[in-house]
Amino acid sequence: MTPDDLKALVRTVPDFPEPGILFRDITTLIGHGAGLAACVGHLAERARSGGADLVAGMEARGFIFGAAVAARLELGFLPVRKPGKLPVPTIGVDYALEYGRDRLEIDPQAIRPGQNVVLVDDLIATGGTALAAAELLRRAGAIVTHALFVIDLPDLHGAARLRDAGIKVEALMD
Ligand code: PRP
Ligand code: HPA
Repeated sequence: MTPDDLKALVRTVPDFPEPGILFRDITTLIGHGAGLAACVGHLAERARSGGADLVAGMEARGFIFGAAVAARLELGFLPVRKPGKLPVPTIGVDYALEYGRDRLEIDPQAIRPGQNVVLVDDLIATGGTALAAAELLRRAGAIVTHALFVIDLPDLHGAARLRDAGIKVEALMD
């Protein structure tokens, strides 16, 4: 399936989670077997050409695509978690979302200094989540130059913020 076919599988829900937000919902895309497989295939192709050593995905929806991409490439997967979930000492960063604030944490021992880590998530909006994840991974010694998304919401300019931080952004659809 092409990225245009995949776009037709994304459901748009108005006024979720707040009035005025048009929520792009991947539930319908991942519920479609060929659609999910094609998404993972397109993302894995890009991760491979970016020379990834390790794939990092952001909780929760980044786990769906990130772990599948990692398995496809026979690479390890690093979960970038919401607070209080990891059972070991963590490093963390607070960040702003399109609607609210949150925090991400990683186990710094999960990275070998100099490893090339590619970020994978379902969607980039303001870029706050991906920038926070990149900051954490870099603090732990990773090289982060590439971030992959199924969906980019270009009106929120997240991709431009990542590019300013030295990260190449690729998305399967706008
Ligand atoms: C959503 C989405 C991205 C992030 C994008 O996750 O999956 O991770 O927001 O927004 P940003 O570019 O403005 O940071 P959310 O925090 O809603 O968590 P979820 O995956 O647990 O639903
Ligand atoms: N859809 C899904 N996740 C999101 C969105 C959206 O429109 N905006 C920020 N996170």
